[in-house]
Amino acid sequence: MKNILVVNSSLNSDAGNSSKLVASYLEKLPGDEVKLDILDLNEAQLPHLTQKEMAAWMIAPEERTREQAELAGVSDALLSRLEEADEVVIGLPMYNLGVPSTFKAWIDRLARAGKSFKYTENGPVGLIADKPVTVLAARGGVYAGTEYDTQTPYIRHIFGLMGITKVNFVYAEGLNMGEEAAANAFSAANEKIIELLSN
Ligand SMILES: Cc1cc2nc3c(=O)[nH]c(=O)nc-3n(C[C@H](O)[C@H](O)[C@H](O)COP(=O)(O)O)c2cc1C
Repeated sequence: MKNILVVNSSLNSDAGNSSKLVASYLEKLPGDEVKLDILDLNEAQLPHLTQKEMAAWMIAPEERTREQAELAGVSDALLSRLEEADEVVIGLPMYNLGVPSTFKAWIDRLARAGKSFKYTENGPVGLIADKPVTVLAARGGVYAGTEYDTQTPYIRHIFGLMGITKVNFVYAEGLNMGEEAAANAFSAANEKIIELLSN
C-alpha cells in the first residue's frame, strides 16, 4: 500500500486554499490503495528551533537526559514520517513572500547533518530515498517564474539537499485578485493536477 505524507501549512488548516488544493489532489488519485499520514503544521505548532534542541541531536541516544530525548524525539519522529513516505504532498501558501513559518519550523527538524544529509569533500550528499513531492502552492498575487518567487527554488534546494529531487509544483495564483481570477486559478491548478496524475 502506498504511504502518502500529507503536509498542510495554511494557518487556516483545512479551510485554507492550499489545503483545498491538497484535498483536490488526493480526491483525484487513481486507485484506493493509499494510506494517508496527515501532518497539519498549523495544529502541530512546532516551536522555533533552539540551541538546546539542536544540541540534543548531537548526543548519543543512550546518553541523553529525559529532556534531551524528548527534544531529539521531535525531529526523529518527523524524519521517520518523511522516510516512511512513498510520496509527499504539500499544501503551501505564500505568506510575506516566503513559506509559512510553521513550514520552516518543520524543515528545520528535517535538514539534519548525519541524518538526512552528510557533508563530504564534494559538498553535501542527501541521505533520504528520493520520492515524488508535489507542492500545491496558493498565492494571493502572481509570482511564479519571477525573482519574487523565493518558495520554488528554496523548496527544490532544501529537498535536494536531503536527496529528494522529484519535486513538482502546482500553482494557484492571483487568488486575492478578484473572484474571476481566483476561479480561473483554481481551474488551471486542477487541470495541472490531472496532468501530473496522468503521467
Ligand atoms: C499573513 C499573510 C501574508 C500573505 N502574503 C502574501 C504574499 O506575500 N504574496 C501573495 O501572493 N499572497 C500573500 N498572501 C495571500 C495568500 O497567499 C493567499 O490568501 C493564499 O490563498 C493563502 O493560502 P491558504 O488559504 O492556504 O492559507 C498572504 C496572506 C497572509 C494571511
